[in-house]
Amino acid sequence: MRIRRSLIDLDDLTGEEIAAIFEQTAKFEATAPGRRLAGKTCVNMFFEDSTRTFTSFNMAELRLGADVVNLAPRNLSLSSKGETLEDTAMTLGAMGISVLVVRHPEAGFPQRFALRFDGHVVNAGDGVHAHPTQALLDIYTLIEEFGELKGRAVAIVGDVLHSRVAHSAMRGLSRLGATVVLVGPEAFLPGSYAGDGVRVERDFDAILPEVDAVVLLRIQRERFVEMPISDQEYVAAYRLDHRRLRLLRKEAIVMHPGPYNRGMELDDSVLDFAGWRYARQVHHGVAIRMAVLDLLVNARSL
Ligand code: ASP
Ligand code: CP
Repeated sequence: MRIRRSLIDLDDLTGEEIAAIFEQTAKFEATAPGRRLAGKTCVNMFFEDSTRTFTSFNMAELRLGADVVNLAPRNLSLSSKGETLEDTAMTLGAMGISVLVVRHPEAGFPQRFALRFDGHVVNAGDGVHAHPTQALLDIYTLIEEFGELKGRAVAIVGDVLHSRVAHSAMRGLSRLGATVVLVGPEAFLPGSYAGDGVRVERDFDAILPEVDAVVLLRIQRERFVEMPISDQEYVAAYRLDHRRLRLLRKEAIVMHPGPYNRGMELDDSVLDFAGWRYARQVHHGVAIRMAVLDLLVNARSL
């Protein structure tokens, strides 16, 4: 069996490939894409809830002319009949499925699947590990705003420890020369995150005047049992609100991968802020996913 090219995290892509994805994204947003996946079957297998990623992958696949199958995990023999992940992967590959988009609460699940599946696997989020297409659409949104990211500072705020979005985005951003400023309490952000191009800060107010963008994170309550600090303490120190918005530079933007929890990491004033780019991120999500699918399936060099 031939192992085909998959996207498990951003490290799977070279700088040139990321640039090619962004170029193709712009084209797909500007003109009708054509049926570039005609005759190919894409299967979406989401073991975890999703609104944005699931819908935008579906839209991307349909717009490219693919045949689309959505598998409900609870109906899989993997879930109830003792079939292994490896045998499921081999079975789906034998049907001639071209792309499998998979979200799973366990880190490493898509990678294990990719080792046995004769097709392309796209990681749509695996546990705390990675969410590469989210990172791509976030970076694309930042580039749209600022052009070159070299020398820009992007704050990622909140539950970094449990956020696959933060884990993928910080790697991608530092590769592109941006400074990543991680902000949060020790329990959600151990000091060991500091490294090349990555700072760890505790004082949200202090960093607001120096960053170009703020990426807010939802507290990933489904990934731990007890909230390590009280909601009140979290809100007092890390919620972006009307007062904190005024500390930002005039041209700074605020982003969020979604879903956002009003009252926790942000209050409603953020949703009216001129630099709030959430809808832009969601919008780009469709064409970014089209570009990723197109690159995996159609790029000759891969
Ligand atoms: N939707 C993103 C994820 O699945 C972020 C979040 O859920 O907070 O990782
Ligand atoms: N941003 C994101 O992954 O959203 P969903 O969990 O709704 O797909």
